Amino acid sequence: MKEQIQQIKENAIKEIKLAEDLKTLEDVRVKYSGKKGELTLLLRGMGSLSKEERPVIGAMVNEVRDELESLIVEKEKELKRAEIEKKLLTENIDVTMKSNRQKIGSLHPIMQIIDEVEEIFLGMGYQIADGPEVEKAIYNFDKLNTPKDHPARDVQDTFYITDDIVLRSQTSPVQARVMENSKPPIKIICPGKVYRSDAVDPTHSPVFHQIEGLVVDKNISMADLKGTLEMFAKKCLGKNTKIRFRPHHFPFTEPSAEADVSCFVCGGKGCRVCKNEGWIELLGCGVVHPNVLENCGIDSKIYSGFAFGFGVERIAMAKFGIDDMRLLYENDVRFLKQF
Ligand code: DAH
Repeated sequence: MKEQIQQIKENAIKEIKLAEDLKTLEDVRVKYSGKKGELTLLLRGMGSLSKEERPVIGAMVNEVRDELESLIVEKEKELKRAEIEKKLLTENIDVTMKSNRQKIGSLHPIMQIIDEVEEIFLGMGYQIADGPEVEKAIYNFDKLNTPKDHPARDVQDTFYITDDIVLRSQTSPVQARVMENSKPPIKIICPGKVYRSDAVDPTHSPVFHQIEGLVVDKNISMADLKGTLEMFAKKCLGKNTKIRFRPHHFPFTEPSAEADVSCFVCGGKGCRVCKNEGWIELLGCGVVHPNVLENCGIDSKIYSGFAFGFGVERIAMAKFGIDDMRLLYENDVRFLKQF
């Protein structure tokens, strides 16, 4: 019996020494001194011993138990200390380290232009309209008086989802949707993404942004269009900006024009931004074709309208002096934070 106790003691001491964490140490304690621990069971089994042996063995077991208990308490302190030291080593705070301040972003140049244009037109009583980017060919083309054999409908220019559904190639379909769903007077602009099957280069991208404008009311004429665009150009590009119209063709307007603005960098003398022309091509526009009004349920004998559409990237590039459109999409903060 004495040898057994001695053996248990040696084993326990060894295990206490080897314990590497508090959990293991607790397991050792339970294994020897717990309710069903080896020492506890020995005490319980003492009934089979002689009267003389009992106190001797009992005292011995208790002594071993006390000794183990104090070894465990010691070991526990040691493990806790080691844990704290480890934490101090790994979680040390370097007060000289640069603080990781949150960087605040800014509006993308394209969004800045859209916001600015919206502000200008809201100030003139326009509303902002929206339409789907995945659009029915009927809205993108047919209702806008663009016949089936028109080159813009070619798969080389437009992304087709099915024969009848396209990624809108212009924001003009929003015109048709608004006219169908509301009654004149209508005064809207619609900014948004458009898609064309173009290869990426410094002035082209398969996705870009346009802003469309539409006014429908009684007695709306080319003069209203010109006055509106002039006002817009002065507010957006500077009060000395002049505007000129060149005849053009769009299926959805008659007459149609392209509008140029005097170069807001050189004032018309000729510079790098206007390619020495003195003028910068700004947008397409015209008086809404009667077929378009009729296609959208508006009586063209009572109402007339004007419309225009322009590319946001072109304005952003001219205004901010950006010479490669791709910079606008790469989202390099070194570029973006300049604006
Ligand atoms: N949708 C034309 C384009 O993408 C731009 C345009 C021209 C819009 C004339 C109009 C307009 O509303 O009247 O090139």
